Amino acid sequence: MAQIVLFENIHPSAREVFTAAGLTDIATYSSALPSAEIFDALRGAELVGIRSRTHLDADLIGRLPALRAVGCFCIGTNQVDVNSAMLRGVPVFNAPFSNTRSVAELVLAEAILLLRRVPEKNNRVHLGHWDKSAAGAFEARGKTLGIVGYGNIGSQLSTLAESLGMRVIYHDVEAKLPLGNARPAGSLQDLLAQSDVVTLHVPGGKATENIINAQALAATKRGAILINASRGTVVDIAALHAAVQSGQIGGAALDVFPTEPKSVDEPLDSPLRGLLNVILTPHIGGSTQESQENIGREVAEKLVRFFQSGTTKGAVNFPELPYQDAGGNRRLLHVHRNLPGALGSLDNLLAEHGLNIVSQRLQTQGEIGYVITDVDGEVSDIVMAALRAHPITVRCDLV
Ligand code: NAI
Repeated sequence: MAQIVLFENIHPSAREVFTAAGLTDIATYSSALPSAEIFDALRGAELVGIRSRTHLDADLIGRLPALRAVGCFCIGTNQVDVNSAMLRGVPVFNAPFSNTRSVAELVLAEAILLLRRVPEKNNRVHLGHWDKSAAGAFEARGKTLGIVGYGNIGSQLSTLAESLGMRVIYHDVEAKLPLGNARPAGSLQDLLAQSDVVTLHVPGGKATENIINAQALAATKRGAILINASRGTVVDIAALHAAVQSGQIGGAALDVFPTEPKSVDEPLDSPLRGLLNVILTPHIGGSTQESQENIGREVAEKLVRFFQSGTTKGAVNFPELPYQDAGGNRRLLHVHRNLPGALGSLDNLLAEHGLNIVSQRLQTQGEIGYVITDVDGEVSDIVMAALRAHPITVRCDLV
């Protein structure tokens, strides 16, 4: 039986997954706990679920010998010292795909609204102007959507946009399988020159900083729409401001900003505020009820799969071993220091105790190695104690 502790009001879909798997010993907290209280709440916990406000540092992880795995019920994992967790044999999981659809839908909706100049018209009607003109309003059908970054979100958007009759081109630094009729553009410049709507779905960081700068904006079709729901650092805001004012960019939607307010009362500091045909949203691209439910399910499933079969597929800090059917009577999960002869030491020890290996899979990453071993026969406490006491062992569990 696992002892599971969930913080920060994790969606009930997580509990459903645990319960369906027979893991019913679950403690839940509606918020993060202050550091003075968190240790007591986690004492004896085997699986822990957190969101972004609970911090698991090296010291805390080191004081939790029962801890088997951590689930971050969100995308980011910065709140966990993932390296310390790895060195203690604790995989950390997150939910990278759960809000993909939510972002893709918002981007498609924004493309349609901006092509029709709805933000501007909506504003005018609120102010009492009934301007029925069709000038500058276009259908999405037949227009070219240029997707920069053809990953989870970019490729999902690709299929949605095609179903609307858009022509899709994309640019990615890696070779990607084009979905439907989408085609790779020759380069970013080529994509910008062809697209009526340009949408950004790249990661943050130095490599993508200001890839949409004054030069890139000048290379777009005059009047094109720009959408950024990726990371705020990808667009040079001053350059975008100038391009919108000059009409080079006909409309823009931004969900992310180089510096974002920290609280509900702090205003966004941006020159884009107040511009016509510009949609500004508070980083809510992935924030839907469905994505919260999906996150609950996705991370809980990863924790259950790890707990019951040892699979670490999708762990952010650990050698990845995919799901495999049980081959013997018992399954051993062995995490060891990644040194020559580690596997031999493990196998010799099992042989000394008369255990025959039915199947075995090893994967290493950095300083650790991880082996799933199915054996015939019972694994006694004596064997487990010997395995755990071996100098190569970081952690060893039986499932
Ligand atoms: P992903 O990792 O699946 O896809 C990113 C793609 O960008 C990859 O295919 C990668 O090869 C490509 N790429 C990297 N550098 C590039 C470059 N310089 N030029 C062209 N392509 C490049 O990521 P995913 O899940 O699709 O997320 C995309 C972005 O959306 C991320 O920045 C993520 O943080 C953000 N995001 C925003 C949300 C919101 O609420 N607005 C919610 C979820 C994700």
